[in-house]
Amino acid sequence: MKPRERPDNPRFSSGPCAKRPGWSLEKLEGALLGRSHRSKEARAKLRQALQETRDILSLPDDYRLAITPASDTGAMEMALWSLLGERGADVLDWDSFASDWAHDVTRELGIKDSRVFKTPYGEIPDLSRADFSRDLIFLWNGTTSGVRAPDGDWIPDEREGLVFCDATSALFAQEIPWRALDVITFSWQKVLGGEAAHGMIALSPGAARRLESFRPPRPMPKIFRMAKDGKIHEGFFEGEVINTPSLLCLEDYLDALRWAREAGGLSALIRRANGNLAAIAAWVEKTDWIDFLCPDPAYRSNTSVCLSIVAEDFLKRSEEERRAFVKRLAARLEEENAALDIGGYRKAPPGIRIWAGATVERASLEALFPWLEWAYRETAKEGV
Ligand SMILES: Cc1ncc(COP(=O)(O)O)c(C=O)c1O
Repeated sequence: MKPRERPDNPRFSSGPCAKRPGWSLEKLEGALLGRSHRSKEARAKLRQALQETRDILSLPDDYRLAITPASDTGAMEMALWSLLGERGADVLDWDSFASDWAHDVTRELGIKDSRVFKTPYGEIPDLSRADFSRDLIFLWNGTTSGVRAPDGDWIPDEREGLVFCDATSALFAQEIPWRALDVITFSWQKVLGGEAAHGMIALSPGAARRLESFRPPRPMPKIFRMAKDGKIHEGFFEGEVINTPSLLCLEDYLDALRWAREAGGLSALIRRANGNLAAIAAWVEKTDWIDFLCPDPAYRSNTSVCLSIVAEDFLKRSEEERRAFVKRLAARLEEENAALDIGGYRKAPPGIRIWAGATVERASLEALFPWLEWAYRETAKEGV
């Protein structure tokens, strides 16, 4: 039978992610629309966004933090273009976005002494192979594979190379050991459910030293310039953005930060995501046709939860048929407004991906499970 109750919020997309509970457009009335981003008021809001982000995340005082254009991609590419090439570089590739960074490193930047350690979806490379005399690029949480780093214990505090971490789907939902990382990037559109367009970049003192001591052998677009003539652009890390930001997105981010603080801060956000993962795990446990894409619970994401259909009949189908099945299942849920955007990433194995980050309410997930079961049975009956 078709379930009667729908999730309060059917939005389970892995980016842009669900807005925080209680969000409405009216909350953005204070946005400085039509004002210069260099006005005193706008600069104060930009600085406030930096300070509140630092406070919630407990970013060490000696790490710099800035707002970047072009979301997480902008933040990450700004770092790769500005800092790589001084020494060899390795990429740990366990997710589609890590493959993008591997492409940047090996093909676009053409770093000669580079290595890529790649694993299939659902697995993680042997972290003990990382060589910290070299630069290392990885992402903390694989948004398309549902596989996350277990902790930072495998990264020594003393190291010669820099560690670059794309933490966009982890920050605000997982513990991040700052001292293990030199470059940390993320966007507003993920765990706090902010708007796309802007990213953030945090730099360790070591990364800041590299910015001043190393001149990259490549042209540097204005949009990537964090240093000039061997001097770090300190204003950038105090809220002087490189080009015009959206003051509407900024207001929305400030609203998300306010909510995060009122919800209890970082530990509460992490608890919310962990509770959501536990709810999904309990449902998976009692449901025979579904399982986690990541077999090892130690590496399972609590934000981008990737699930595989493991029913024998389904696995007998060709990959094309399996993709069609998942597409139909997801479309069915959309038609019913029971779940939006839960199809797995287009390059990942055919499956379901449910965003479970801090802005998602556990009650919405609990209401989703009966709908998933209904949609699965209906689709299987249809023999798509
Ligand atoms: C791990 C990871 N890196 C990078 C990106 C790209 O982010 P954006 O589109 O915000 O630049 C995403 C987006 O989902 C992601 O999940």
